Amino acid sequence: MILVTGGAGFIGANFVLDWLGAMQEPVVNLDLLTYAGNLHNLDALRADARHVFVRGDICDRALVQTLLSTHRPRAIVHFAAESHVDRSIHGPDAFIQTNVVGTFSLLEEARAYWTALSGSEQQQFRFLHVSTDEVYGSLEAHDPAFSEATPYAPNSPYSASKAGADHLVRAYHHTYGLPTLTTNCSNNYGPFQFPEKLVPLMIHHALSGQSLPIYGDGKNVRDWLYVGDHCAALRVVLDKGRVGETYNIGGQSEKTNLEVVHTLCELLEQMQPHTTRRYIDLITYVKDRAGHDRRYAINAEKISHELGWQPSETFASGFARTVRWYLENQAWVSNVTSGAYRSWLDKNYHAEAVR
Ligand code: NAD
Ligand code: DAU
Repeated sequence: MILVTGGAGFIGANFVLDWLGAMQEPVVNLDLLTYAGNLHNLDALRADARHVFVRGDICDRALVQTLLSTHRPRAIVHFAAESHVDRSIHGPDAFIQTNVVGTFSLLEEARAYWTALSGSEQQQFRFLHVSTDEVYGSLEAHDPAFSEATPYAPNSPYSASKAGADHLVRAYHHTYGLPTLTTNCSNNYGPFQFPEKLVPLMIHHALSGQSLPIYGDGKNVRDWLYVGDHCAALRVVLDKGRVGETYNIGGQSEKTNLEVVHTLCELLEQMQPHTTRRYIDLITYVKDRAGHDRRYAINAEKISHELGWQPSETFASGFARTVRWYLENQAWVSNVTSGAYRSWLDKNYHAEAVR
């Protein structure tokens, strides 16, 4: 079996669902269920004995130790993190605690467990650390895309905490020989994404007639990847990745935020037109994010050439699929848009449009 951390969040839940859809190997899922974790994401597995859910903190070393010795996983796939850049600007503490201290705790327990394994089990064991392209910093318009050799230059408390975690993972391989793999992926979108992130927030606001808040001039660029393609890439890296290596994962879909929001509005016009207004008219320019990275782009040649992975969704097909999912799963959206979520929105946007 494998141990997944953060498997009730957006990517983690998609990964667990994909994994159990594709193979028989059971999953122990350790997740603290912070505001971003949601057991409804895993409703399809309610009666599935291959999925064992444990609510707990990756910083709880005694718990992690017990899970490892009880379930004896052949791999750890580590998603658990604080993941939202804006939240890291308002309150970085939790980011350092979970992303840095939590990853350190997990590495220490993984090292103790791995050291005590028998020869062949020790050889097969893997620690797959799921990270982000944001550790590389920000690109100018004509810079080449991030490769695995791009120096780290994180700009937000979130990306700095992820960079810290990446460095710890690297050190545990270099110093102790722990068989690690690290992936650095671009912006994901798809089902079960918490509506604080650009894509689900815009869909939710458009459908509920709220303004669509564009930070700054809306020309910041992200490289968009459908979450199912990320999950497929992680399975390939776990299966065939070279120990100690890092792999960049991206969608070859660089878009400005305005292009993304226009695409979402056009898809909503086609799938669920409003009787009296156009979604696009809800666009509002708001104060820019502090330290806002201008552009991310991923060079995914390594994973493509070495491991044969390619995204299967295009920007057009993935976005159409995603909008359809949110339209068909409005009950899921209502469930997560709780009171706590509303107070976060007030804090982050304080209802001010700058132009
Ligand atoms: P998310 O915020 O949706 O989910 C994070 C999950 O981790 C939640 O279920 C939460 O309850 C859990 N968690 C948080 N703190 C925990 C703790 N201390 N112990 C146990 N569980 C805890 O995040 P996501 O978007 O699914 O991202 C998952 C991982 O992928 C993160 O490590 C993130 O840095 C990385 N990543 C995300 C993206 C993206 O576009 N979303 C892109 C590249 C990499
Ligand atoms: O690049 C990978 C990263 O992508 C992941 O590591 C992070 O966990 C994930 O949150 C994401 O980070 P971003 O900051 O790029 O994603 P977000 O959805 O928050 O914002 C995408 C872009 O849209 C960014 O340029 C900010 C802008 N934006 C975002 C929101 C929420 C807006 O203009 N308005 C908004 O309301």
